[in-house]
Amino acid sequence: MTESIAIAADHGGYILKDYIKAQFPNVDWLDLGTNSADSVDYPDFAGKLAAAMKDGKASRGILICGSGIGISIAANRHAHIRCALVHDVTGARLCRQHNDANVLALGARLIGQEVAKDCVDVFLSAEFEGGRHQKRVDKLSSC
Ligand code: RB5
Repeated sequence: MTESIAIAADHGGYILKDYIKAQFPNVDWLDLGTNSADSVDYPDFAGKLAAAMKDGKASRGILICGSGIGISIAANRHAHIRCALVHDVTGARLCRQHNDANVLALGARLIGQEVAKDCVDVFLSAEFEGGRHQKRVDKLSSC
């Protein structure tokens, strides 16, 4: 895999972030922090990731906070981001196939590491199906 994948987390998600990175050593990760349990604000890390993607430094991203909720809400405030908060592999597959999600959000306090790993695996490999889904995704840009 040659494309860079941005990854960022708050203090509730940085352990899972590091676990995910270790599970996919062949991915060219762009790690935007955080890297400790010191309290930080999830919108800042969603913003760092959105900026990196806007600048073309990464084509897709992974965001992690305690629940995945705050960081996914923050990410979706950025017009070029389609962030999907998922809790299972089916969601991770469908957000690529139907929604062309470019960012996956995970809740480190809500799912186990193995499920998170499988979600990332599917998110990175599944392709957007286009077709009937394309016009719906296009409409997201004018919401
Ligand atoms: C941080 O304590 C926690 O609120 C955050 O990680 C996330 O769960 C917010 O949605």
